Amino acid sequence: MTVRKFLLAAKGQGVFPPPVWLMRQAGRYLPEYRETRKKAGSFLDLCYNPELAVEVTLQPIRRFGFDASILFSDILVVPHALGRDLRFEEGRGPVMTPIEPGDIASLEPESIHEKLEPVYETVRRLRVELPDETALIGFCGAPWTVATYMIAGHGTPDQAPSRVFGYRHPEAMDELLGKLTEASAAYLIRQIENGADAIQIFDSWAGVLDQPSFERWCVKPVTEIVKRVKARFPDVPVIGFPRNAGLLYANYRSSTGVDVLGLDWTVPMSQASELQTQGPVQGNLDPMRLLAGGKALEEGVRTILETLGNGPLIFNLGHGITPQTPIEHVEQMLKLVRKQA
Ligand code: CP3
Repeated sequence: MTVRKFLLAAKGQGVFPPPVWLMRQAGRYLPEYRETRKKAGSFLDLCYNPELAVEVTLQPIRRFGFDASILFSDILVVPHALGRDLRFEEGRGPVMTPIEPGDIASLEPESIHEKLEPVYETVRRLRVELPDETALIGFCGAPWTVATYMIAGHGTPDQAPSRVFGYRHPEAMDELLGKLTEASAAYLIRQIENGADAIQIFDSWAGVLDQPSFERWCVKPVTEIVKRVKARFPDVPVIGFPRNAGLLYANYRSSTGVDVLGLDWTVPMSQASELQTQGPVQGNLDPMRLLAGGKALEEGVRTILETLGNGPLIFNLGHGITPQTPIEHVEQMLKLVRKQA
């Protein structure tokens, strides 16, 4: 089998030039994505249509030859499969009916797989259609981040509704996170069984919590998910991405058992370099440097490569690529990372 550079780096090897992929690499900055998205109807129809989901997953691989692809889906298909309503509104994002403490007992993690079967089908088809050297990353949202959308019913800037919910109803919060933990672990295991060769756990809202809440609502559920996935698949690398965790990044790898630390762009290079002494890191270019292009992009890429390029590194953004990003800037970034510029 061809070597997948991404997997070497994820398992701790220094690889030069480093493997590269982008969070949200399949998305609205690509005209071919916008075209397929129109054909699909709603965003959720796209997530649950294996033929079209495979197509949009492959689009950035065809165009840029990234070292890894990420399954096209969304973190919120898990609460959807648990029976919560979900729709995506243009310009507003996800909208759900806010969950109440009394609703949690009726969530049934065992029953998610039927609804998620199209996602597993997408994974199976992708492993056949992807180039051999391209890794396939499966993913889920971390329980806390998924819970924030279930509780508020939509995105918020600081997840105040979920923090208040957790402080007012600590048992209900633990119960909700427990159900999401069980569902997410089972979901990831199925993705691996069907062909995913690495996993990313997106904890996009880890950074709004104080330390005790971070331990209870972020670290604890992710630790349990990693434990369950590793019990079945000890060799499949797991990337943890506790976005904006700041100083709390320090113990995250050792407490949760994730193999790779996904760094957001606010992590200073000195801290990133320290974290890399303990294992592989992924990141962490500011997506706005990529959007701006030119010198800002060159300097951003150079700093990361100079600081982290000699250890195990997966080059990525510090968060998802935004729809306004010019495609030429992605091409320029790849040349810089691959040293052809
Ligand atoms: O290419 C990829 O990265 C794979 C697909 C992917 C999507 N969402 C597709 C998507 C992945 C890995 C996600 C993860 C996700 N979804 C996260 C965690 C990462 C992050 O960005 O913080 C979160 C919080 C969500 C929930 C979500 N989905 C929100 C808040 C939104 C609206 C914001 C937005 O960008 O529009 C979405 C919609 C969404 N998910 C889009 C895509 C391509 C855009 C919707 C569209 O195409 O109409």
